[in-house]
Amino acid sequence: MSASGGGRKAASTSSADLVDLLARAVGAVREAAAFALDPGEELRVEAKAHRNDLVTQVDRGAEERIVRRLEATGIPIHGEEAHRVEDFETYRGRVWVLDPIDGTLNYVSTHRDWAISLALVDDGVPVVAVVADPVAGRLYTAVRGRGARVEPLTEGAAGAVGAAPRVLETVEDLPLSEGMVIAHYQLTQDAGIGRAIEASRGMRCYGAAALEMTEVAAGGAVVYAQPRLQPWDVAAAALLCTETGVVLTRMDGAPFDVRRAGSLLVGTPAAHAEVLEYLSPDRC
Ligand code: IPD
Ligand code: CA
Ligand code: CA
Repeated sequence: MSASGGGRKAASTSSADLVDLLARAVGAVREAAAFALDPGEELRVEAKAHRNDLVTQVDRGAEERIVRRLEATGIPIHGEEAHRVEDFETYRGRVWVLDPIDGTLNYVSTHRDWAISLALVDDGVPVVAVVADPVAGRLYTAVRGRGARVEPLTEGAAGAVGAAPRVLETVEDLPLSEGMVIAHYQLTQDAGIGRAIEASRGMRCYGAAALEMTEVAAGGAVVYAQPRLQPWDVAAAALLCTETGVVLTRMDGAPFDVRRAGSLLVGTPAAHAEVLEYLSPDRC
């Protein structure tokens, strides 16, 4: 299914509207998470573009559940599996951007480190974010200009260890030497990233971009780098990052626009600057 609307001017959204839209988004993600945690049948796994690009009936079913819950908002949906907005790269106005399961390989293979990622993007700027880590029982949310928080995914539950409701404070501006780098395996061949990893406390790779970006926003790592991501991978976690003072650019330092696929370099201001320096073509 696709919707058009490129060139449409944004309806201005008040702060109260955004809080209402966040509540709807949270309800939709909670329903999809419960379904994905217990779909009640064997997984049917198919490959898409290549053998490690997987989709299951749960990715599709989670997307459908969220789309149904958000229909009443009248806002179009740009989702990974079946709902596309035409000319998304230049889309103006409000649009939900959805990855029903981020980290499908993990969902299928290790059963952890997968997420549901939903953002409301207005004129290319994320204004509402929901990232669920269902296995850890955590729900991360943000409204632009109003900060980010984490709470138990299940309403009323004590939640997993560390999931007590709390505001995500502005990240401590740690340098590379005091934190972990999360990098995609393809980047281990990159000399600049290799030097950055050596200067850090070590490298991790969890295989779900939304959770990896969220880890930086939550202070668990100082850098995340990836050679190519899609809008649905990053839209929600990008707001968690900006609301916590984390810097996002392309890996060459160019400005980042969530509507366009491309590389991503996320970090505390200090560590982000250090990695850019290591990646600089003058420093080989
Ligand atoms: C993938 C994950 C992975 C990233 C890939 C994405 P998917 O999302 O975020 O960490 O390295 O580029 O495609 O396909 O599981 O939704
Ligand atoms: Ca994804
Ligand atoms: Ca996905």
